[in-house]
Amino acid sequence: MKKTWWKEAVIYQIYPRSFMDSNGDGIGDLKGITSRLDYLKFLGVDVLWLSPIYKSPNDDNGYDISDYQAIMDEFGTMEDFDEMLAEAHKRGLRIVMDLVVNHTSDEHRWFMESRKSTDNEYRDYYIWREGKDSQTPPNNWGSCFGGPAWQYDEETAMYYLHLFSKKQPDLNWDNPKVRQEVFDMMTWWCDKGIDGFRMDVISMISKTKEMPDGEINGFYGDYGPYCVHGPNIHKYLQEMNEKVLSRYDIMTVGETPGVTTELAKQYAGEDTHELNMVFQFEHVDNHGKYGKWDDQKWQLTKLKKILNHWQMDLYDKAWNSLFWDNHDQPRAVSRFGDDRPQYRVTSAKMLATCLHMMQGSPYIFQGEELGMTNYPFQSPDDFRDIESINAYKEWCASGKVSHEEFWPCITFRSRDNARTPVQWDDTEQAGFTTGTPWIPVNPNYKEINAKSETADPDSVFHYYKKLIALRKENPIMVYGKYEPLMEDSEELFVYTRTLDDKKLLVVCSFTDQDTVFTIPEEFVGSSCMIANMENDYSKSDITIRPYEAFVLTK
Ligand code: GLC
Ligand code: CA
Repeated sequence: MKKTWWKEAVIYQIYPRSFMDSNGDGIGDLKGITSRLDYLKFLGVDVLWLSPIYKSPNDDNGYDISDYQAIMDEFGTMEDFDEMLAEAHKRGLRIVMDLVVNHTSDEHRWFMESRKSTDNEYRDYYIWREGKDSQTPPNNWGSCFGGPAWQYDEETAMYYLHLFSKKQPDLNWDNPKVRQEVFDMMTWWCDKGIDGFRMDVISMISKTKEMPDGEINGFYGDYGPYCVHGPNIHKYLQEMNEKVLSRYDIMTVGETPGVTTELAKQYAGEDTHELNMVFQFEHVDNHGKYGKWDDQKWQLTKLKKILNHWQMDLYDKAWNSLFWDNHDQPRAVSRFGDDRPQYRVTSAKMLATCLHMMQGSPYIFQGEELGMTNYPFQSPDDFRDIESINAYKEWCASGKVSHEEFWPCITFRSRDNARTPVQWDDTEQAGFTTGTPWIPVNPNYKEINAKSETADPDSVFHYYKKLIALRKENPIMVYGKYEPLMEDSEELFVYTRTLDDKKLLVVCSFTDQDTVFTIPEEFVGSSCMIANMENDYSKSDITIRPYEAFVLTK
């Protein structure tokens, strides 16, 4: 397997709006990020992935871009960006940009031109179709944020496609001019010195020419078979690789909803000349009665089956991205661990162990290193996210399900859980802003914050710091072969890693009960690399406490 810097890197995701506010307007910004680079350096991460910072009307918090080569007003200026990049590089931190090119904002110049007339030179930059009439779109597809995926535009009496909100029209990648514009823009950022791209819903850029009704899924037809991993997806990514990516020493990670291990081997194969790695979603996509809105936790055997499969199947063929959460997911400790006060710290460390010991590049979402939790939403007015607001309306306000029934589901899974401000200290607004934050701070900031955790050697923060440091000293964590054990256990997640004559045993408890465990003979009495509590590994039968985790080496 080829050795590369990005296989060895730990990546930290910043959601700029909620990271650090420098000027008291309640919105995180670039100067705020620059002011916290020393904190990130101290944690030890290598790469910072920034969620979008480009000019945007913020219908979807920056994932709707109106100018790819300008900075969002609230976040600062291009000078602030250059300063942040230079200060990051000075500290050996690389910067990965979010690349959102499945769609633009409807306020992007291209779209404002496109909608003017059917013969405008930008018309074919987007996907326009005749409807059945002004009330009936070309087909029954639904958008990811609720409602139909088509919007009628009076100007030319046609519909445009938007797989996300109606302010996010989909670009037409079949138009070579669109591809060239995107590649030129990417080149411009690479020449500025950025270190990579995280590519937003990149598996959705190629669509079929025919657009028939989809199978009804919830309220609308499913566009999946026509828009996800579409006919030219690999061709376009190879073209992007040839024209841009291969010319720079950068890393790329594709957000690829719907990806399987087979497809990942094509998207991110060692020799396929597309991307370095992809985000897969199988382990976060457990759906229930109300689609993604579900308050149930995974059955451990099911979760392990998915993660074990990704580990085994990509080995030596493609590279994994490892994550428990991000800006679209609830907080890891609340979802996969246990955020009750007696278990929060232990289970957050357990999750970190379980993830960082697998093969792949680990991603830490801001605040995860502090064990930040889901937000205690009181009412639908607390939501800021377009997805949660629309889902509440679509399911609840419309009477399809009662508030009582739906509330635990939407609050457990809302993206806003991840988007509350980073808790820096125990002063007002958790030190995030001197003003009023755009989204409320989690009231638990007095107990959970960076200031107290950096001062406490037993904190979740210091545990992450240690895991990151261990990766630098132990190539086995990066390159070792993975082998699952005890696949039928509903309590323990157990696996080994092997590199040359070295071997690691990783044991993680996902339950709030004691369990008994027999240490495999070859590991009895071996030394402990990291653990979230003490135990006696010299015996073969041991009791594992709730959410205990340890790694033995030989
Ligand atoms: C991706 C982003 C998400 C955004 C969507 C549309 O899934 O991660 O935040 O809403 O794409 O751009
Ligand atoms: Ca600000």
